[in-house]
Amino acid sequence: LSPTAPARDLAGVRVVVSAGPTREYLDPVRFISNPSSGKMGFAVAEEARDRGADVTLVTGPVNLPDPPGMRVVRIESALELREAVVEAARTAGVVVMTAAVADYRAAAQSGEKQAKVAGDVTVHLTPNPDILAQLGQEKGERVLVGFAMETHAGVERAALKAQRKNADFILLNYPTREGTAFGGDDNQVTLVRPDGSHEDWPRVSKREVARRLLDEAARRLPGRVA
Ligand code: CTP
Ligand code: CA
Repeated sequence: LSPTAPARDLAGVRVVVSAGPTREYLDPVRFISNPSSGKMGFAVAEEARDRGADVTLVTGPVNLPDPPGMRVVRIESALELREAVVEAARTAGVVVMTAAVADYRAAAQSGEKQAKVAGDVTVHLTPNPDILAQLGQEKGERVLVGFAMETHAGVERAALKAQRKNADFILLNYPTREGTAFGGDDNQVTLVRPDGSHEDWPRVSKREVARRLLDEAARRLPGRVA
């Protein structure tokens, strides 16, 4: 083995990664979304591929080409994301939800472009399903990983999310950390477990965050020793 060859510790493991934003159309030309770049999720998918995993990457609209050596599913809405992730997750050992899923969609999507009216308008939104929580309800032996961006009380909120969604752990970050999170090439995250225990990781490349994340996930696979 050459010293630079990555460990093939995920050979035979199916890994599903969601990435990027979702778009929730109000009419054919307008949507609600967020600035997720997809870089974190793509880094996880590429790292898993290089460690031998059989990878499905389900991504919202991002400015990144399909990475070679994996199945890539392009979606737009949260409902489409759910369908693709739930289907791929059936046979998966690890599911990593980095997607920034829009919490709401239009209660009624107009088939025609809506002309402006004089004065204020009210848009009726309805909640999107929680995909990670749905996977957590039938968790089995799958390892489930979430991401959360919080502006305050991050560890407490992330631990509650991990509990509520039955995730193994959540990687928490803050939108204010410079050069990280939305669009950046680095990330500085805190690993938070459902019991509230947590570890601050240093600011490193998203690829290095992916490496550490998959180290954690691999340890939790059935039949592995920590
Ligand atoms: N998530 C999901 N489906 C949703 C919303 C979120 O699967 N409809 C996943 C995200 O991909 C992420 C994790 O849940 O891995 C946490 O997302 P976050 O938006 O922080 O959680 P919410 O439960 O939506 O809480 P909040 O009210 O803070 O937005
Ligand atoms: Ca949310």
